[in-house]
This record gives sequence, structure tokens and C-alpha cells, in this order.
Amino acid sequence: QWAAATGPRELLLASPRSFCAGVERAVDIVRRALDRHGPPVYVRRQIVHNVHVVRELEERGAVFVTEVDEVPEGAVVVLAAHGVAPAVRAEAEARHLSVIDATCPLVAKVHAEVRRYAGRGSTVFLIGHGDHEEVEGTVGEAPEHVVVVEDLAAAATVTAPDPSRVAYAMQTTLAVDEAEGIADVLRGRFPALDGPRRDDICYATTNRQRAVAAVAREADLVLVVGSENSSNSRRLVEVAERAGAPAHLVDDVGQVDLRWLAGARRVGITAGASAPPHLVDDLVHCLSGLGPVTVRETETTREDVRFTLPREVS
Ligand code: F3S
Repeated sequence: QWAAATGPRELLLASPRSFCAGVERAVDIVRRALDRHGPPVYVRRQIVHNVHVVRELEERGAVFVTEVDEVPEGAVVVLAAHGVAPAVRAEAEARHLSVIDATCPLVAKVHAEVRRYAGRGSTVFLIGHGDHEEVEGTVGEAPEHVVVVEDLAAAATVTAPDPSRVAYAMQTTLAVDEAEGIADVLRGRFPALDGPRRDDICYATTNRQRAVAAVAREADLVLVVGSENSSNSRRLVEVAERAGAPAHLVDDVGQVDLRWLAGARRVGITAGASAPPHLVDDLVHCLSGLGPVTVRETETTREDVRFTLPREVS
């Protein structure tokens, strides 16, 4: 296997890749909370869906919990980037916790849309994965008004009590082409369908998908750095495959199977929005141990998005 995997290789780095502004902000919030208050700082759920990020913050003194009832009364708790249902905030308040909200502003935007539509009495079709934490939180804004639509089949059969009062919203980390297809089916079935003026799929998801598609078209293999529970990372694998290259999701270089590299002379590399950039550097470094590499960066968009920090840590 080792011999088959060696040889000269071209590495095609998709750009943009790795951390988005929402993840940078969330990680920064936990670090600053630790500096300001000292450990432990509690974090509800994984701050972002990446094992390396969680481990690093744990080493600094963050304590990850599933629900706020695990946090001692009066302690500091950070709410993760994917957002929470209002019931979670209410519970944190009832326990007199000092809450620092790391919800990405682009997730908060979707929450606001759902509140607005539901406030008008509309049924809201939320295009997304029902078991994802972001969707759980968004549904929690108006559980009696929101119906999760996971796929085309669901879009073709979903109903609303009043078809003249319907709207849709989306999880921020879906595959753009798939989600648009689902929205089209809903538009076709509900002519009165209201929707967001700007797409709910965030800039970082969109840009990383466009970038990985560009490298996948030229690559024999695509490696996506990201964790299994990271929605946007998993979508990058699917987008790369649809663009024509076999693709694998790896948490880090340790998960790369040498068999994948046999005969792969051009390897596309990207990372999900929750995966730290140094993991890509490690991967490039290790691949260069298998033979001479040339590294080519394909930049499809330049990002300059920055979000401000909440006042508790700014
Ligand atoms: Fe926010 Fe999109 Fe990143 S919703 S956390 S900018 S992947």
C-alpha cells in the first residue's frame, strides 16, 4: 500500500476553505470567556462541530455539557454557534447562569425570519436535517408553526393548514443545489410561498462548495477535512462527488487511508467551516512525505466577512 501510494503528486487546495467568520467568533468567545472568568467555563453542546476545536478548548478549561441543567447555578455558560431554541435561554435564565451567546449571526437571521413568518400565522417549511442541532434550535422558535422538510420527497407531499399562508427558510449549511431544488418544488406547489430575500445558506457554505467543485473537476481524489457531525463538511464531500471525484471526510491526516492515494496524482483538498486551518497544513505536510508535491491554490472567491463579538467578551 505504501509503495502504491508514493510518487509525485499535485495538491489542489480549494479556497476558501476551513474556518468561517461564525466559527472564528464562537471559538474566540470561549477563549476570551476563559481568560476573563478563568476555568471552568461551561459550553452547551460542541461550540462548533469539530473534535479538534473541542479538545483544544477542553484543555484550556472549557467544560462541554449537553443541557444547561448540567451547569451549576450562577456559572458562565456559552451557547454554541448553531443557535438554541428560546426554551434553552429561558432555562439558563431560570438557573441564573451568565449566558454568553456564540450563535452565529447568520443562524440568528434565520431564527428571526421564522419568528416573523410564524408571527403572521404562516406555516414555515424549514428545509434542513431534522436531527441537526441548528434545525432543533430554529424549530424551537415556533414549534407549532414549523415543519421540517428534509428532501424532495417530503417537499412533494408536505401540507399546510392554510396554503395561502406559507413560507420557507433553510438550514445555513445545506448543499446549495439540493436545497434550491427543494425550494423549487415548494414554490411549484404553493404559489403564495414567502421566502427570505437573501438565501439562508450562508456565504461560507456557498463559497466552500463552489471552491471544492472547482478542484474536484480536476482531481482524482478529494480529501475534506472535517468532523462526521459537521453538516457543511459532509456537504463538501457530496458536492465533490457530484463534480466527479471520489471524496472522503477525515478528521485529520491520521484518518487518510493509503489505498485512496494509489494512482491519485491530483488530490483536491478542502476543509469544512468548523475545521481549523492547521489540519490542512498537517495534511499537506504528510502527503509531501509520500513523494514530491506541487501545491496549487484555486481561489474561487475572496472572503472578508468579520462578525463583532458580544459585549460580554469584547
Ligand atoms: Fe455561520 Fe455559516 Fe459559519 S452560518 S457559523 S458563517 S458556516
